[in-house]
Amino acid sequence: MDNKPAILNGRAVFDKRLPIIRPNVDKYVEKELLKDISAVLNSNMLTSVDIKLKKFEEELENYIGVKHVIGVSSCTSGLILSMQALGLRNSEVLVPAFTFSATVHAAYWNNCKIRFVDIDRETFTISPEEVEKNISPETKAIIAVHMYGNPCYIERLQEIASKHNLKLIFDCAHALGSSYQGKKIGQFGDVEVFSASPTKLLTTIEGGIVATNNTELAEMLKIDRNYGNYPDYSCKRPGLNARMSEINAVTGLHQLKDLDKYVENRNSYVDKFKKELKNIQGINFQIIKEGNVSTHKDFGFTVNENEFGLNRYELARALNAENIMTKFYFYPPMHKLDAYKEKAEYNDLKNTELVSNNVICLPIYNFMDEETINKICKAIIRIHKFKTEVKEACK
Ligand SMILES: Cc1ncc(COP(=O)(O)O)c(C=O)c1O
Repeated sequence: MDNKPAILNGRAVFDKRLPIIRPNVDKYVEKELLKDISAVLNSNMLTSVDIKLKKFEEELENYIGVKHVIGVSSCTSGLILSMQALGLRNSEVLVPAFTFSATVHAAYWNNCKIRFVDIDRETFTISPEEVEKNISPETKAIIAVHMYGNPCYIERLQEIASKHNLKLIFDCAHALGSSYQGKKIGQFGDVEVFSASPTKLLTTIEGGIVATNNTELAEMLKIDRNYGNYPDYSCKRPGLNARMSEINAVTGLHQLKDLDKYVENRNSYVDKFKKELKNIQGINFQIIKEGNVSTHKDFGFTVNENEFGLNRYELARALNAENIMTKFYFYPPMHKLDAYKEKAEYNDLKNTELVSNNVICLPIYNFMDEETINKICKAIIRIHKFKTEVKEACK
C-alpha cells in the first residue's frame, strides 16, 4: 500500500502541506531585525527620510555594480515609472506573452500599444529572432523578462535595440542575485526593475528596486516615486506614491548580505532535483546558458504528456495528494488573459503556448534540507511508476 502514490490511497510523502514558497525573514527576527524596526518606529522617521532606504540603495549599487538604485513600492510601480521616464507613453512596445501580468500592466498604464512576442522554448525567455520579426516603424521599446531568474539573451537584445534605436527594459522581478556572463543582473539595458515581494529570494515584504546607469533617469525616478513633486509641491510630472518605506528598506538590508548564499543554495537544490529526475522521460528542464547564473526564483519544467504518461494537471493533482503544492507559472499566457486578449496584437506564439500549457513549478526555498528534495523526487518517481493508474484516478 505504502509504495503506491497517495492519489491511489498510498501514504502521502509529506504529513503536512509543503508550500510552494517560503520567505525566510523570520530568520532575521532574532538577528537585530526587530531592533532595527523598533528604532525606525521610535524615530518617527518612517518614509521619505532617506536613512535606511539610502543605505539599502547604496548597498544594492555595490552589490549589483550599477551607478544608481532607486527603491520603490513594487516592481510594478518601478516599471510604470521607468517607462514614463524613458518617454514611452503612447508608444508601441514588445513584451513576451509568457510572463506575469504586471509586466504588461506597466505598458498598459503608459497607454502603450502592446505587441506580444514569443519566447525561446529552452530558456523560457523572449526570443531575439521573434523580437526582430515583430519590430515595426512604430516600435519604441523591448521589455524582456529574466524568467524565474534565468538571464535572457541580453547581448542579442542589446544589439537589436541599438540597431533599431529602441529602449531596452528588463523586468528582472525574479533575478536579484542572477548574473550574466559574470556580471550581476541590474546593469544592463536602459533600466532593470526587480521585485522584492514575498515570493522573491530577498523580500522587503512589498517592494521594488530600479537599477540604471543613466543618471538623468535615476534623478527623474527619485522625483516620480514621490508623486512627481519637485521642488516641494511643484509637480514636475504625473508621478505615483511609489516610495519604499524605511521599514521595508531595513528588512531588505538584513537579507542582502546573505543573498549570494540563497542563490548558491538554490542552484545546488536545482542540481539535486535534476540529478534525481534525470532518468524520467518527458520532463524538460529550463535551460540556463553556459556562463549564466539563475536565482531559480522558481523551479519549473515542462511535462511532455506523451513521454511522461501524465499531463501537468494530473501530475499536479497527484502531487497535491502527496501534500506537495505546485504552481503553473505562468498560465494562462498574456494573450489569453481577459485583461489583454482584446487589447494586444501578436502573431505566432507557439513556444509560449507550449511552455505555458505544460509548465509546472515545484517548491523551492532559500533554505531546504536534502530530505525534502529527496521526498519530492521520490513522490514524482512513484507517481510516474504508477502513471496508468494515476491517469485513471484523475478521470
Ligand atoms: C515577471 C514579473 N514582473 C513583475 C512582477 C511584479 O512584481 P511586484 O509584485 O513587486 O509588483 C512580478 C511578480 O512576481 C513578476 O513575476
